[in-house]
Amino acid sequence: METWGFGRTGVRVPLIGQGTWNMGDEPASETDEVLALQTGLDLGMTHLDTAEMYGDGRSERLVGRAIAGRRDEVFLVTKVLPSNASYVGTIQACESSLRRLNTDHLDLYLLHWASGHYPISETMSALEFLVASGKTRFIGVSNFTVNELRAAQQCLVNERIACNQVLYHLGSRGIEAEILPYCQRAGIAVVAYSPFAQGGFPPRARHQRETLDTIAAATGKTPREIALRFLTREEGVFAIPKAARPEHVRENAGGAGWALSEVDLAELEAAFPVPPPTTPLDMA
Ligand SMILES: NC(=O)c1ccc[n+]([C@@H]2O[C@H](COP(=O)([O-])OP(=O)(O)OC[C@H]3O[C@@H](n4cnc5c(N)ncnc54)[C@H](OP(=O)(O)O)[C@@H]3O)[C@@H](O)[C@H]2O)c1
Repeated sequence: METWGFGRTGVRVPLIGQGTWNMGDEPASETDEVLALQTGLDLGMTHLDTAEMYGDGRSERLVGRAIAGRRDEVFLVTKVLPSNASYVGTIQACESSLRRLNTDHLDLYLLHWASGHYPISETMSALEFLVASGKTRFIGVSNFTVNELRAAQQCLVNERIACNQVLYHLGSRGIEAEILPYCQRAGIAVVAYSPFAQGGFPPRARHQRETLDTIAAATGKTPREIALRFLTREEGVFAIPKAARPEHVRENAGGAGWALSEVDLAELEAAFPVPPPTTPLDMA
């Protein structure tokens, strides 16, 4: 699997990783979901994203099962809920996540979204403590605007924000106006969540489908491979599609390792335009 440098961490991470929202919710599906995640690991999709919020810890437990005996292969990411993100609450939430994931450390720990629950300085101090105590290698945020990123970074003494995980798919390119360029300048990795619009892919608009189908016919790739390749076309941008079926995971692995031509990129740009910079940040 092709990799990009992950912000300024010095670590390389696969362009296509795996999301896990809604996984672990149905006991009857768990074996298949573990198999899907392990299929992804076999294909090099080792960036696994979960959160304490997902299924109230059920997703983390499922990820723990999927990575058992393979922890060293994985770039493991989970998130603290804003309502738990006081200084002590963040540390306790991380310890609970580690127990559910059955590991002693994370690769990346994120604040799930910005909120007024606790001062951002408290959360950032707790995240720095978690790095210093070996509970996570890197820290970051999710759903942050440029101003929120600046404010969070200013609270940090020894660490840097490694990543901003944001909603980014062909039908929602709002981050390209300000957030993406800012992150690229600041050396912050951008991780595209819901790259298939939470199942809303392919898009309904006829001209958009036709653009994807034409490029698919010319390149021999599927529309989903094209979408993932478009999102991760620039260094430092990653995608984490969620797929509970191994055949879906295999298709998604094909979203990296090849390049869209300039002509194809221009056609996609035209069919899926970036909204004006004044558009507020989309969130799932
Ligand atoms: N930080 C945040 O606030 C935030 C918010 C939302 C999501 N996320 C993260 O991002 C991950 C991905 O986003 P998402 O779960 O919202 O949605 P998504 O990845 O955009 O879409 C998931 C849907 O697409 C389907 N799918 C995936 N690959 C497919 C393929 N090759 N062919 C056909 N269908 C395919 C899945 O079906 P099957 O499952 O049946 O395979 C599922 O129904 C989440 O799981 C989560 O880890 C983060």
